[in-house]
Amino acid sequence: MGVYAVTGAASGMGRAVAEKLTAEGHRVIGVDIQETDIVADLSTAAGRRQAIDSVLEAADGRLDGAVLAAGLGPVRDRARLPVIAAVNYLGVVDLLEGWRPALAATGAARVVAFGSNSSTTVPMVQNRTVKAFLAGDPARAVRTVRIFGAQAAPFVYAASKIAVSRWVRRHAVRPEWAGAGIRLNVIAPGAILTPLLERQLATPAEAKAVEAFPVPTGNFGKPEHIADWVYMMLSPSAEFLCGSVLFVDGGTDAHFRPNDW
Ligand code: NAI
Repeated sequence: MGVYAVTGAASGMGRAVAEKLTAEGHRVIGVDIQETDIVADLSTAAGRRQAIDSVLEAADGRLDGAVLAAGLGPVRDRARLPVIAAVNYLGVVDLLEGWRPALAATGAARVVAFGSNSSTTVPMVQNRTVKAFLAGDPARAVRTVRIFGAQAAPFVYAASKIAVSRWVRRHAVRPEWAGAGIRLNVIAPGAILTPLLERQLATPAEAKAVEAFPVPTGNFGKPEHIADWVYMMLSPSAEFLCGSVLFVDGGTDAHFRPNDW
């Protein structure tokens, strides 16, 4: 049975993944700003350092896998944009860089980072926003969306998820990741009924946008279903899955981009 670090383990999909892993007999080291094994604020450098070190200590330097689910939605509050940007991007890539030696130590580790179908369905995301993230500068990414004023949040959110997906694809194939037996992949959920989506549905302006969003299967997804896909991506069967972005979104991405493959 394996040892897995799971961020965002206190709520929604991260929690569903942690519960699935535990039910299957694995050991989970949860990381979250809310009550869990390791309480850390991933929006700050000190919090990310604490999360890295505490997990390495709790796992005794060996991780069979990691799931990076901590994240914030596109909350339409300009003061929160730097926090969204830092958690959604640095809360994934800094932790993965810090945990890489522990993942390499087991020789066959599996990593699933949470992207989003926002990465392909939000129009007009600027390349310079994504580039700023990939340069490790979420504060600059936030400055690039100032032109969108009160509507800036979805652009920061989508750019953070594009950047996470690109970071994973760029690193997944490198010798220090693929060559060390580590499989890096992304899951890109669509609208999943979690506290994050519930908060959006409770805000009239955001609810309108969420409800107008086409979901061909006609429903919101369930956290448990996403957890099952993540579990598969953590399993030995995922040995040949490397740098993939798996959309599990009720058909929204296919609806918007039927000809992209
Ligand atoms: P959620 O709100 O239920 O869970 C997110 C978790 O992240 C919470 O436990 C929260 O405490 C934690 N978190 C937030 N800020 C943090 C911080 N500063 N430091 C440490 N932990 C922090 O959300 P949900 O829906 O389960 O989201 C999981 C991931 O899936 C996120 O990355 C989100 O962006 C992504 N996603 C969600 C979709 C949805 O429709 N719910 C759709 C596509 C992607």
